[in-house]
Amino acid sequence: MCGIIAYTGSQEAAPILLDGLHRLEYRGYDSAGIALLHRKRIRCWKAAGKISILRQRLPETTAGQCGIGHTRWATHGAPTDENAHPHTDSELRIAVAHNGIIENADVLRAQLMAEGVSFSSETDSEVLAHLLGAFDGSLIDAMRTVLPRIQGTYGLAAIDREAPDTVVVARLGSPVILGIGDGEMLAASDMSALARHTREIVHLDDGEVAEMTPRGFQVTTLDARPSQKNTTQLSGVLADYDKGGYAHYLHREIRDQADVVERTLSGRLDTRFSTAHLGGLNLAPRELLNIRRIKILGCGSAFYAGMSGAHMIEQLARLPVSAEAAAEFRYRNPVVEPETLYIAVSQSGETFDTLAALREIRRKGGHVLGIVNSVGSTIAREVDGGIYMHAGPEVSVASTKAYTSMLTVFALLALMLGRLRDVSPQRGNALVEALQGLPDKVRETLALEPAIASLAPMLVTAHSAFFLGRTSAYPVALEGAQKLKEISYIHAEAYPSSELKHGPLALISSHTPCIVMLPNDELLHKSLSTLEEIRTRGAPVIAVTDADHPRIRELSDEVIHIPQVEPLLQPVIAGIALQLLAYHSAVLMERDIDQPRNLAKSVTVE
Ligand code: G6P
Repeated sequence: MCGIIAYTGSQEAAPILLDGLHRLEYRGYDSAGIALLHRKRIRCWKAAGKISILRQRLPETTAGQCGIGHTRWATHGAPTDENAHPHTDSELRIAVAHNGIIENADVLRAQLMAEGVSFSSETDSEVLAHLLGAFDGSLIDAMRTVLPRIQGTYGLAAIDREAPDTVVVARLGSPVILGIGDGEMLAASDMSALARHTREIVHLDDGEVAEMTPRGFQVTTLDARPSQKNTTQLSGVLADYDKGGYAHYLHREIRDQADVVERTLSGRLDTRFSTAHLGGLNLAPRELLNIRRIKILGCGSAFYAGMSGAHMIEQLARLPVSAEAAAEFRYRNPVVEPETLYIAVSQSGETFDTLAALREIRRKGGHVLGIVNSVGSTIAREVDGGIYMHAGPEVSVASTKAYTSMLTVFALLALMLGRLRDVSPQRGNALVEALQGLPDKVRETLALEPAIASLAPMLVTAHSAFFLGRTSAYPVALEGAQKLKEISYIHAEAYPSSELKHGPLALISSHTPCIVMLPNDELLHKSLSTLEEIRTRGAPVIAVTDADHPRIRELSDEVIHIPQVEPLLQPVIAGIALQLLAYHSAVLMERDIDQPRNLAKSVTVE
């Protein structure tokens, strides 16, 4: 979603801001802009569309060593030049870039208009520029006066022509991170925009405002109390934010997955007690034994990973476990039970609905663990304990390596909870060995890429594709359909195979390719009957299987033979095969793979 970058220092700001915007592109955006402060004058350049268009609009040289930039993902008002940020007041005293939503913007806008203010955009954010610009005093004092009037969420950065080398940033519900440089300061909504400039960062908390100059920064609360902030080191290496020679981030992230699984597992397998060692849960074994139920919450791919996780934990720990979309959960006034363990899953650690769900649970006294990739993110900081995924930065909007890492974390958690309850040391040992061997199985799966790529033509002419699977393979089918939808724009639906004849069979024809998950389990023969039903209706079939059953070949047009693994880990392997299928379909269709239309990497609004 929207991204912010700000700079103050001794270098020319424009190239730094543009580079920052480029690093934020992956979050999804539809317009961009920068504002520079030079000799008591603010100048703004904005453009609908890609950052390359903004670059073309800028003069060859731009003066200004202090400035702010923004990538906008339209909510209030279409993606036009006028609606792009930064916004300024009528006197061009203030420029502001805003992430989030101002819920009372209409009321504030009406009040300002009654006072004679004219607006140049349809955005909710422009009210901030006018309110801040009308304040008679310093920018930080203006923030302290204006921000309490704002209902909604914000992460924002502003400059004031009266304060030559100062940027003020503030946060409520939308991330802002300060980057400490040598004689310079940066701020951004996302670490990726800071990585080239500094390793030292400071996370702003809700209700805080920071004043930055090249000489340093000061963080206070909105009521002017000083905040003590800890500096942390930026995670990931700079190279993690590059394509590494691949045409798309998504491709690199798919191909990186053996290493990702290795990192997620690193130091966490305990061969002595045949279990997993997870240091950050902040729960003693006795407390873990008192858990009666587990509820997993997430959005998008994190939700589907949670569904697979629910299956894994239920199988090994013999506890009732379910996963639910975080937004749905929080809006149904959920019953929060003391003996239920809640798990919030999120790559970014900033997804609004997941965060809101965890806050609701904690407000009701529930215990929440986080499975999070982004170190120091809001969800990571607000949970009672958790497990970092260590997947490294994920840049492409569609999740691949983070999803796989989530499944790996769930397998570790299932093993650990299982060993506390139902799982014998022998079975535990077999699971530890299976996990140790998982990176190699991922490598074997990735080696299937040319064969899987050759199947993409079966999908690209379809208007609709069906992904079918049962029990543990059903969430994999959901994620497979999600990947295809997101990056190729082919309509895809996932169904439990058992539900086919209760409705969707009416749609099955020679125009609807079916991707059928056929794990080698006790339901294989039932899934083969499904295959027969589809076949009878003439649908092209791609079977994804680790089974060696002659009927599979007879009943399918194509078979993706995935490596055999411990059944619990099968979703990891099958998921990767489906990622490759979606990727190569999108390549054939020449889609904007890393930034699919209408989608954002990190959905920080409701
Ligand atoms: C967005 C992304 C998805 C992601 C979901 C949850 O919709 O486009 O790829 O799965 O958010 O994100 P999270 O960061 O919470 O895992």
